[in-house]
Amino acid sequence: MQRIIASVSTRRVKHAQGEDSKVQTELKHSGNIPTHIAIIMDGNGRWAKKRGLPRIAGHNEGVESVRDTVEACGQLGVKYLTLYAFSTENWKRPQEEVSMLMRLLMRALRDETDKLHQNNVRVHTIGDTTTLPREVQDELLDAIEKTKENSGLNLYLALSYSGRWDLTTAMKHLADDVKRGRVASDQINDQLITGYLSTKDVPDPDLLIRTGGEHRISNFLLWQLAYSEIYISQAYWPDFRRTELYDAIRDYQHRERRFGMVSEQVNQSKRKATYAERLLKRVSGL
Ligand code: FPP
Repeated sequence: MQRIIASVSTRRVKHAQGEDSKVQTELKHSGNIPTHIAIIMDGNGRWAKKRGLPRIAGHNEGVESVRDTVEACGQLGVKYLTLYAFSTENWKRPQEEVSMLMRLLMRALRDETDKLHQNNVRVHTIGDTTTLPREVQDELLDAIEKTKENSGLNLYLALSYSGRWDLTTAMKHLADDVKRGRVASDQINDQLITGYLSTKDVPDPDLLIRTGGEHRISNFLLWQLAYSEIYISQAYWPDFRRTELYDAIRDYQHRERRFGMVSEQVNQSKRKATYAERLLKRVSGL
């Protein structure tokens, strides 16, 4: 039954239309679409200030950017999108702004979950969500439960999240496992640590986008961003829509990702991969 529901919802996925569909097709042919995009959505307050509006107006308009970005990522075939929606440090903002942000989040989840589901998006969270107001937690649980069978875009909402929180939590669990004899200290390596993080089921971001023009990681996915390509957009988050997303992906497609190697090695392994793909196609008669 679940499978039937999932396939019906897949068929209802809204595809890009007209000129936008053309741009998306070009983008898919001009290079790789990143598997995982992470975004630091910054500049809501400045967007509002520029217009003489209260900060919450910027956050409110920012929800429209979330909507458009999520939809475009789904249509492009991005598999993972992680949005830094509320950091551990954001709790220090004025109480009024925090509670308005929580209300906005709750409303956005309530209004958007059905549409996310129809678009085959699966919702997840990372962060210490137990610190969120009960009603927000309930909306999140609803969204996670409702979309759990979906197979399209995986949308990760980072809420009450910080990279240091993630690493500290991971280290506590790891220390506990060492103490109980489940892990020997000489087994600790890169891969093992990755497995203790809240993103253990997610490949590292290929592309990190930060809006609002600042050049900072701001305690986001500290471990996971080790080899991500960074793109800084001058647009404030409420002005960041699919056109700006396409610019970021186009820029990403011109980067050479070396992962610490030299150019020649990267090209050689690319050639090997294409050769293997061709061979596989020939053998399987595709
Ligand atoms: C940073 O801008 C933005 C935030 C702290 C909140 C982002 C939240 C949303 C876009 C709305 C809810 C999100 C979802 C997922 C529905 P800022 O306030 O730091 O801007 P500034 O740097 O100009 O002050």
